[in-house]
Amino acid sequence: MHTRMLLAMASMAGAVLAAAFLASQSFARPMEVQGAADREIREVEASIDRIESESLQRAGASSLDRDDKFVLLGKLILFDRTLSVDSNEACAFCHMPEAGFTGAVSALNATTVSYPGSIRTRFSNRRPQSIAYASYAPVLHYNALQGDYVGGAFWDMRAAGVHFNSPTAEQAQAPPVNPVEMGLDDSACMVFRLSKGAYRRFAEELWGKAAFAIAWPADTVQVCSQPGGSGANSIPLDAVARKAANGTFDRIAEALAAYDASSEVNAFSSKFDYVMAGKARFTAAEKAGYKLFRSTRTHCNECHRDGGPGEEPLFTDFTASNLGVPANRAIPFYSESEADRFGYAANPVGGAYVDPGVGGFLTAWLKTPADAAKFRGKFQVPTVRNVDKRPGPDFVKAYMHNGYFKSLKEVVHFYNTRDVLPRCQAGDPGEKVTCWPVPEYAATMNRKQLVNLGLTSAQEGQLVAFLKTLSDGYAPAEVSRHSKKAPTLPAVAAPPASSASR
Ligand code: HEC
Ligand code: HEC
Repeated sequence: MHTRMLLAMASMAGAVLAAAFLASQSFARPMEVQGAADREIREVEASIDRIESESLQRAGASSLDRDDKFVLLGKLILFDRTLSVDSNEACAFCHMPEAGFTGAVSALNATTVSYPGSIRTRFSNRRPQSIAYASYAPVLHYNALQGDYVGGAFWDMRAAGVHFNSPTAEQAQAPPVNPVEMGLDDSACMVFRLSKGAYRRFAEELWGKAAFAIAWPADTVQVCSQPGGSGANSIPLDAVARKAANGTFDRIAEALAAYDASSEVNAFSSKFDYVMAGKARFTAAEKAGYKLFRSTRTHCNECHRDGGPGEEPLFTDFTASNLGVPANRAIPFYSESEADRFGYAANPVGGAYVDPGVGGFLTAWLKTPADAAKFRGKFQVPTVRNVDKRPGPDFVKAYMHNGYFKSLKEVVHFYNTRDVLPRCQAGDPGEKVTCWPVPEYAATMNRKQLVNLGLTSAQEGQLVAFLKTLSDGYAPAEVSRHSKKAPTLPAVAAPPASSASR
């Protein structure tokens, strides 16, 4: 791409970021923060390249068994930025290990919440979810006993998982061709780019040579550098080549799902896990927080379940609920109503947009609008594992589907006081402390479990202390002093078997 084009894009990204920072009102000097975001983005990109080259080296070593190779192939794909339209954005850009497999750019979490796509002026409507523990979600189904939908991937459960018998495999086919994410115009471009990559041989070893035996038209390089959503031409493949490309696109999704399901991503190595295994102890505050978390007073454990007979402590039950979280107008998506220079408008309704959540997806899936309406404004219960996992103490994380909250204290204060404190406007000096703005979508708001909890500020602090014990990678002092290896934790069942690890 020409330098001039890049510069134009960079300044457009700057304008969008600056607008979002102004809208977020938490920063007086938007340009400076934009500089910080840019710097952090470059650091994350460098870190992705480092992880990719380490993984390439491991792929060269022959000691791996077949299952390990599938997992490693998934990792190579997840950290491969060449699979995006401008070759700048890997999946991992929005899902970094040091932030608990969510976004690792503090300056974005503090402001825009959503992350720019490969076309850096395009932002999506939601905060990146964590990849960790998502593999445990069952294929989306209706549980008549609970009167509730359970499973699927994405905040709105739309990656149902029927096709692969795996929600995370189905999910993995969305970002490559999402115009606001990796931005490819054709899923076959993913296959084409991978076939030009450094680990093609490694992939062929697992998938067979047929995976890339596709006669690509001469202008494929050019077509694949056209951003998706702009009405550009997709690759004109004949039926045989299309079938082969689709097959390999499925193999790619399965490899990504295999990595998603690996012990590297689902470590179960938090302080909580050590305490449960009798290898560490809670502090008094953490212990009190855990008791509150499990109490009928807070109801936390009813949705963020800490396990049970035959059930892993995943801290989610994979249902959905509407907590009444206020809208977050700092997300740039609200101002993406105009077509960009590629002719694509991410959000034609602009500021009028209300995230429909699970109801939006069900409207298309069920084709019975009345049933779907009950789920409007609901979002899948996220795991609270790794909610405090961050690369450093000053690093800001955003919470909920729209990142409205910036600290666990704010989240817990909201659960405690949503129905007690008066309403105020976004931007009011007392917002998040002495008052709350109206819910983004009130009609389906949970009023059964989310009620006046009557917790003191100290008790809110105890809940936060407990939530902080859920970060993977805990190294208890006694253990790390005496040996380099962490103690063996009780075996945890692998995510439900699926075709994804074939
Ligand atoms: C530009 C940022 C971005 C990129 C790039 C990206 N994601 Fe995501 N990811 C998100 C967002 C945002 C969500 C939630 C989307 C929604 O609910 O609509 C998400 C959701 C997910 C989930 C669902 C987790 C759950 O609990 O249901 C998985 C798994 C995931 N991404 C994996 C991937 C993979 C694999 C890729 C690459 C093929 C990828 N992501 C690329 C931002 C990104
Ligand atoms: C009725 C089910 C339900 C109950 C009860 C519940 N939660 Fe949640 N929790 C959710 C849902 C759903 C979300 C995501 C909502 C959204 O994005 O709009 C969530 C989000 C969160 C998050 C943010 C996670 C993230 O990654 O963004 C935290 C932290 C959290 N809950 C902690 C708690 C605590 C602490 C309690 C008890 C005081 C609690 N929850 C009670 C359903 C529940």
